[in-house]
Amino acid sequence: MNKYITTPIYYVNGEAHIGHAYTTFIADTVARYEKLKGNKTYFLTGTDEHGQKIEESAQKSGKPTQEFADEISATFKNLWDEFEIDYDKFIRTTDADHMKGVQKAFEVMHAKGDIYKDFYEGHYCVSCETFFPETQLVDGEFCPDCGKPTNVVKEESYFFRLSKYENALLEYYEQNPDFILPRSRANEVKNFVKGGLRDLSVTRTSFTWGVPLPESMNDKEHVMYVWLDALMNYVTALGYGKDDANMEFWPASMQLVGKDILRFHAIYWPAFLMSLDLPLPKHIGAHGWWTRDGEKMSKSKGNVVSPREVSNAYGVENLRYFMLREVPFGQDGDFSQRALIDRINSELSNDLGNLLNRIIGMSGKYSDFEIDSKDVQKYHTKELDAMNGALANLDEFMQNMQTHRYLEELWKLFAIGNKAIEEHAPWTKMKEDKRDEALATVALVANILAKASIMLSPVMPKTTETIADALNFTIDNSSYNEFVIDKKLLKLFNIKQVPPLFPRVEEPLMAEAPEAQPNKPEEESKEEVERDNLIEIGQFFETSLKVGHIIEAEEVPKSKKLLKLQVDLGDSDIRQVVAGIKEFYSAEDLVGTEVCVVANLKPAKLMGMISEGMLLAAKDEDGLCLVRPEKPKKAGTPIG
Ligand code: MSP
Repeated sequence: MNKYITTPIYYVNGEAHIGHAYTTFIADTVARYEKLKGNKTYFLTGTDEHGQKIEESAQKSGKPTQEFADEISATFKNLWDEFEIDYDKFIRTTDADHMKGVQKAFEVMHAKGDIYKDFYEGHYCVSCETFFPETQLVDGEFCPDCGKPTNVVKEESYFFRLSKYENALLEYYEQNPDFILPRSRANEVKNFVKGGLRDLSVTRTSFTWGVPLPESMNDKEHVMYVWLDALMNYVTALGYGKDDANMEFWPASMQLVGKDILRFHAIYWPAFLMSLDLPLPKHIGAHGWWTRDGEKMSKSKGNVVSPREVSNAYGVENLRYFMLREVPFGQDGDFSQRALIDRINSELSNDLGNLLNRIIGMSGKYSDFEIDSKDVQKYHTKELDAMNGALANLDEFMQNMQTHRYLEELWKLFAIGNKAIEEHAPWTKMKEDKRDEALATVALVANILAKASIMLSPVMPKTTETIADALNFTIDNSSYNEFVIDKKLLKLFNIKQVPPLFPRVEEPLMAEAPEAQPNKPEEESKEEVERDNLIEIGQFFETSLKVGHIIEAEEVPKSKKLLKLQVDLGDSDIRQVVAGIKEFYSAEDLVGTEVCVVANLKPAKLMGMISEGMLLAAKDEDGLCLVRPEKPKKAGTPIG
């Protein structure tokens, strides 16, 4: 069967971060899994290079736009190559073939009567490259998706008749309940469509960095809207508009996207395809967002996780394993070195790595590294049944994109192996002169490792290659059929010694992210800014300030700055406050003292701990001091 897997194409206005790496890792894993199963697979990734956002970024960098796009696009491609991402094509929306394909699509839609010219007047968010009607704006001005100010745009535009496809889309969602994965995300899409679709402005005249309209339109004023251009990449990559060379792979089996761009892929994209009379993708898989140490990543905070940095420190395959195991697909995930190290040490090193080392050690000692499966059936039917049961569950998890369940299930195999060794204690059997039994247990575990490696190979291709090499076989579709589908056991062979695959990690190998400092006044609090930002008294009273009594205080391990406090705000309201004051106060001295607390802040997470308030403090070059009531006041006394 043909399988076509795609990632979104990444904007070239900045280098890749772990969010991008995550999508690419999942897609690479799915593609490798399909290949392993013997499916004919095509895996596409690439870069999205047109639009106002890229044009503006290039201008800021002082480089010609194409040169700027070339450079950033190359950083993505190089990173994926370094990570051995096994893509079949890396598409760029500035490729001539792609641009021709988009023009062809425009002509087809136009000929069908789905594109017409009119005037557009509305609000445009450059950052999201999206138009919004006034009713959707926050405070009449700001983008509902990213919060940035929008621009009022009034220009002539070609429109795509999106409204025409409203019913067809709703019908498709109904008939294909697995079109959007996880299913829990489908409702937001359906509701959006049910709320009514407006025709979509698909050209722009206010800038030029985009695909020109086809010559047949005879209109040089317009360039294509970046999302029409970008979405078409999924078919132009297969030769749409040129030679259809690989169109046999369409419709895509799995299109991976982040939750923020689901709407484009689950509404606009299928509508464009219907207009082009092309079949719709089988699945759109929408994953969640990654944070770092509980905080949103942003360039200004300096806490963006660089995938290369993590890979250099911990190894790219350990990162792949971590990301796919840590987060249920569709949910948001948090990257922290602690969580990564825990998984490396307990799951990779202890469960998997040790099992391999034990088998190499025992086979060396008892049988001169020879593994023979001849007696495995005789002594280990229980374990073989349990192993085959877990192996049989894996496919469904992968088909539903539940990578964490897939890996969890796979790890049951190592538990079966480790338990068999404890229960059957081959070293005792050897002493009791039950050599066949002892060697059967060693062979059982070698078989478990072999089968598990095959199924782990889409996630950790290199590591499992080393395991397979030690076990004298090659991971490919034929070994998958032999050992997983037909449940055969390894033939007689000599095991090879390999160095430990997952050395334990004792302490973080990368610099920590800059710590969040809840009590630090914002950098901009300079006099000019203050003058420009005068507020009404009512705005001040929106902040609830109260006297708090500190009843407990302790240091946060591994943090230079943070103390964890329990603060009494009266009326049994005890709050946990994590404050960056450790350099100035000892935990002991704080207990029993009074402080001023901002009591109506949204809770925030700091180093994994919830903080439910903020202490008022004054800070200058001499240090920081807490602001306290001049005379003792009851806990909860309002300030203001
Ligand atoms: N160019 C568009 C996609 C066009 S596809 C026809 C785009 N590019 S992007 O570079 O901004 O984002 C690419 C992908 O990265 C999106 O799927 C987005 O969800 C994902 N991520 C961006 N930040 C992320 C995290 N912090 N965490 C996880 N994924 C995130 O959108």
